[in-house]
Amino acid sequence: MILRKLKLVNFRNYKSFNINFQKNINIIVGDNAQGKTNILESIYTLALTKSYRTTNDSNLIRLNQEKFIITGETKDEKIFKKLSLELYKGNKIAKINDNVINKISNYVGNLYVILSSPDDLQMIKGSPSERRNFLNIEISQLSSNYIKKYNEFNKILKMRNDYLKLLFTNSLCDVNYLDILTNNLIDREVEIYIERNNFIEKINENITNIYKDITGINNLKIIYETNIEIEKFDKDHIKKVLENKYKKNQQREIAMGMTLYGPHRDDFTFEIDNNDIKIFGSQGQQKLAFIALKFSEIPIFEEITNTKPIILLDDIFSELDKKKKNKLIQYIDKDYQVIITSNDTKDISKKILKDANILKIHDGKIVEKGGENNGRK
Ligand SMILES: Nc1ncnc2c1ncn2[C@@H]1O[C@H](COP(=O)(O)OP(=O)(O)O)[C@@H](O)[C@H]1O
Ligand SMILES: [Mg+2]
Repeated sequence: MILRKLKLVNFRNYKSFNINFQKNINIIVGDNAQGKTNILESIYTLALTKSYRTTNDSNLIRLNQEKFIITGETKDEKIFKKLSLELYKGNKIAKINDNVINKISNYVGNLYVILSSPDDLQMIKGSPSERRNFLNIEISQLSSNYIKKYNEFNKILKMRNDYLKLLFTNSLCDVNYLDILTNNLIDREVEIYIERNNFIEKINENITNIYKDITGINNLKIIYETNIEIEKFDKDHIKKVLENKYKKNQQREIAMGMTLYGPHRDDFTFEIDNNDIKIFGSQGQQKLAFIALKFSEIPIFEEITNTKPIILLDDIFSELDKKKKNKLIQYIDKDYQVIITSNDTKDISKKILKDANILKIHDGKIVEKGGENNGRK
């Protein structure tokens, strides 16, 4: 799929902005703080209804304004769609072809994006919740079942935690009700574990080779870490493990007033020959690990969605040597729509630049358009 047009109204530093993308490589260049990342952020937000840079949606509205509107026109085979997302007084309105879509799960999945940004480093360095967040976002794009089960899980988890607290303070409460909540929770947890494991297994089919091609280093793998002992990712097995875990730890959970086991405690690590790169890897190795992770997702998205995702690469070239940059570029197949931001194009190969759509941004405006062929064709 491709994004043909993007229109921003009062989004971040853009007042009223129109941009056309071509079907292959698009490069947004400009100095720092001109709005390059904001463009990728708007595409991401249009796809997922949420930004990856802030949890407070109102930060996305241009200062002193009261709403933003992002509109995008997509093309997938012969199907054209117009997507729009609007935020006004804390309400988000998502539309497809001008029709309001009330359920987020019916909206997400109309625009597939894979974004690699410097913030991804948090995925390696940050807390487990950053990594769980990554899993949630990526799998939500691929499975509406996941969004549904995950939302239900969160609601039941909260109810269960509240009830555990109540049991602690009031011993007259009915423990049978806890069992009902536990069983409801387990049903959702089983699905979440299986979906997360499937996703990580698929990543591992690709990431080792990609990382080796870029860095020459072998054996990068992602290790899924759950806080229950799962021997095989089979529904009945996981169900039994969870049932036992909750039964054994009931008193402890009541005393602590919270659910101690489950996917809300999941984590994963990046390992090279069984060494966690968070501890042993250099900054460069870590950066390339998350880029390799994002590139590993491309074939997974394609297989599941039957369309090519749009690849958004924010500033991935900075701090990398020329050789690694070119290795990365080799992965940007001509068949994908890619939108890259960069301070300049100096290290990008002539071959790529020749056919690229280059857009220079200054202070929220396009000040120059064109690739090498611009004006000559
Ligand atoms: N809500 C907002 N309203 C107006 N300007 C904003 C808003 N949020 C961010 N900006 C501005 O956007 C600019 C940064 O844009 P960004 O896309 O991150 O730059 P870069 O080109 O370095 O990627 C800064 O000048 C910042 O002040
Ligand atoms: Mg930026």
